[in-house]
Amino acid sequence: MRNKLGLICAAAIALAASSGTVFANDTFDGAIKARKSLMTLYAFNLGQLGAMAKGEADYNAEQAKTAADNLKVLASMNLGAAWPQGSDSTANPGKTRAKVEAWTKYPESAKIHGELIEATTKLAAAAGSGVDGIRANIGPVGASCSACHKAFRETN
Ligand code: HEC
Repeated sequence: MRNKLGLICAAAIALAASSGTVFANDTFDGAIKARKSLMTLYAFNLGQLGAMAKGEADYNAEQAKTAADNLKVLASMNLGAAWPQGSDSTANPGKTRAKVEAWTKYPESAKIHGELIEATTKLAAAAGSGVDGIRANIGPVGASCSACHKAFRETN
């Protein structure tokens, strides 16, 4: 009897574990990884420009132009597929910091993204012509990043 109960328990645990796998929401893992990667690339390129603007790194026209061009290209990519419905932080706690409001207030997040495209286009046009070109145009880029994070990214 004890053995039989043990068996039933083992079976129940196995079932729970397997149904956990079936129902765990890993459908969005690829999309979440892709959008975080985009953000990482934004930060990597913006960081180089920020360091030059602040005088923490020597100004290098080619590097500045390349980083700013990259930002423009990254912002202009259509990565809409990396933001599927249901891949928000409420439905996928611990996996993503993208607030559900990014979807429920959708036109707002798209508007900020549009501002980022505009700001990176201006920065790309100016970054190769001197550190002042970065300084004069980096503000609106950073502001677009921050505006979106403030509204649509969990702080934790
Ligand atoms: C349209 C909105 C939006 C814009 C614009 C935006 N971000 Fe993000 N960012 C997000 C959201 C939402 C997340 C959370 C993504 C997730 O966890 O799935 C995020 C996450 C990040 C992360 C963390 C990535 C990780 O691995 O968890 C970094 C770094 C980042 N953003 C940098 C930037 C920079 C730099 C810019 C501007 C050049 C920028 N973002 C522009 C919405 C935006």
